[in-house]
Amino acid sequence: MIPQEVIDEIKSRTDVLEVIGDFVNLKKNGSNFRGYSPFNNERTPSFYVVPSKGFFKDFSSGKAGDAITFLMDAEGMSYVEALKHLAKKYGIDIPEEEVTDEELEARNERDSVFIVMKYAAEYYQNNLWKQEEGKSIGLTYLRERGFSDETIQNFSLGYSLDQWDGLMQSALKKGYKKEYLAKAGLIIQKEENNREYDRFRGRVMFPVHNISGRVLAFGARILGKGQPKYLNSPETLIYHKSDVLYGLYQAKQTIRMEDNCYLVEGYTDVISLYQAGVKNAVASSGTSLTQEQIRLIGRYTQNVTVLFDSDPAGLKASFRGIDMILEGGLQVKAVMLPVGEDPDSLARRLDASELRTFLKENRTDFIGFKTKIFQEEAEKDPIRRAALIKEIVASIAKVPDPIQRQVYIKATSTQLEIDEQVLVTEMNKIHLKEQRATQRREMLMEEEAQPTPEVVPPDQGEDLTNVQPGIYFKEREVIRVLVLYGQQPIQLQPEESSSVASSEGSLEDTTEPIKVYDYIYHELEDVNIQTPVYQGIFNLYREKTLAGVTVTEAWLAQHGAEEIKQEVIDLVVDHYVLSENWELLHNIYVTREQDILHQVIQRSILELKFSYLGQLMDEQRQKLKETTDEVDQFQILKDFQMLKESQQEIAKVLGIVIV
Ligand code: CTP
Ligand code: MN
Repeated sequence: MIPQEVIDEIKSRTDVLEVIGDFVNLKKNGSNFRGYSPFNNERTPSFYVVPSKGFFKDFSSGKAGDAITFLMDAEGMSYVEALKHLAKKYGIDIPEEEVTDEELEARNERDSVFIVMKYAAEYYQNNLWKQEEGKSIGLTYLRERGFSDETIQNFSLGYSLDQWDGLMQSALKKGYKKEYLAKAGLIIQKEENNREYDRFRGRVMFPVHNISGRVLAFGARILGKGQPKYLNSPETLIYHKSDVLYGLYQAKQTIRMEDNCYLVEGYTDVISLYQAGVKNAVASSGTSLTQEQIRLIGRYTQNVTVLFDSDPAGLKASFRGIDMILEGGLQVKAVMLPVGEDPDSLARRLDASELRTFLKENRTDFIGFKTKIFQEEAEKDPIRRAALIKEIVASIAKVPDPIQRQVYIKATSTQLEIDEQVLVTEMNKIHLKEQRATQRREMLMEEEAQPTPEVVPPDQGEDLTNVQPGIYFKEREVIRVLVLYGQQPIQLQPEESSSVASSEGSLEDTTEPIKVYDYIYHELEDVNIQTPVYQGIFNLYREKTLAGVTVTEAWLAQHGAEEIKQEVIDLVVDHYVLSENWELLHNIYVTREQDILHQVIQRSILELKFSYLGQLMDEQRQKLKETTDEVDQFQILKDFQMLKESQQEIAKVLGIVIV
């Protein structure tokens, strides 16, 4: 348990922009900040941070929250991990907690797997630096490879002793459970003979980190001859090979600073480049690049530079994955390495400045690079020319930005001495084919889908009444006004106050300014808010105000129940981001709500009442259908008429025409 005062301290020091800025590339957008969603692979940034409020909202997924919610949702941390992350970032001490059996048990499985992985990483490091075998075999090997002690530490490299169960015994002694060692892929349990032993033995250990620096897996290199050369952790609860980039944790800062990410093949490439001063390289570790990995890079930069070995067969195979980067909207550059070299060997052969120069001078645009490779091949074989065009155009067709596609078409046309129109026609063919495929898919999906109304309020849960969309949105508006402006004073003018709605109102006579919330309470005295979460906000607001609390959006977001918190954040962020975007987009000054607070409040209340009256009228209509009793019918009609008149009066004020 982290003591409450430490939690409070952490929260008070937390700056949402700094925290999220570590993970998402944010650009200033008015008084807010904007970037690409960490939750979706998108082409137009729709992720916003509102620093003045301490909130973020992702319009692509609808997720919203504060810095802690972000760490939990986007980075997969638990609440406690998020607090620890912040404490570390802001240099706040958290009293060390003893890990007891019960606590270990209480945490969920994922957490437990994380914990044993952390232990294993420490154990392997300890072997490397402190144990005789580790020092004489592992450390010696790494140093001979040219890795400095600092580099070895930066990447937390380690060594697994050449014993059957060195790790297992040590972990069990410390109280870690066998179950989780197995779930972490650290030990292998053979059912046939009931034997259990360490997966990694006598190898140099390369831990694979997630972006917050937690160990997810290991790559383990054999020393000397033997198979396999690299043994990797299996997929586990916490490790999905296709979602991880090796070295990103160490590289992310530099990637953002240099606005470029080098993509290489393996562990040793990343590490050698890092040591040679190129600290923005990552590796996809064996697999071909996935969309998730591209999305990860996209959070830090839109520029990728791929380092290619000059072996032609391998080269063409690796082109496939690159199309996917283009498709993700990223800019791709290529560097061809000298014959027979990989980034690791190159980084060891050149000194830091030579390496930089080499990378700079050999960097070309990927499309041009690919064209050149295929062109050289086609020169020897004219029949291959048609295939070449198709190949290149296929890559260009992946680029989402039409203007950039145009630029590529021009450049390729010059490079290949082919008419632009030929390339355009070829590209249109590809796009048409893709379009047809999408249409077919969509039609098939439509058949299965249920028809849905255009706007639907979020799910209210099964056990709760279903609120009509019309009412939901009107309630949202009133609550928005309450949350944003509740504490502000307004001066009521007799002719301005809603004499229609407040039947027995006495507020008109007041000349003293009153608070917005007072006005809203008074106006809504005899109505029942139907959407549960808005009712919750309304009641909490009133209860706390009566108890003397100055309720603000920040207070609600701090103290409200989870769903209230979520809703308040959503309202506030929508308000700040949307209204400001409107201004930026249309380059006009939108009259500030602040300046016309009166009208805004009055209007939102009247519109809500208008909707409620409509609902009551519907109920009367329904009753009328169900009764045959004439006296009842007469009463119903009378009630209906009254409702209708009230609605018409409101409509007059609102300027609505009812037919
Ligand atoms: N790699 C791998 N699995 C293998 C071989 C290689 O995952 N069986 C990856 C590793 O990430 C490695 C990179 O490819 O860092 C480069 O391979 P290689 O040069 O064979 O590995 P090194 O450890 O650099 O070996 P050597 O010292 O022989 O160059
Ligand atoms: Mn190598």
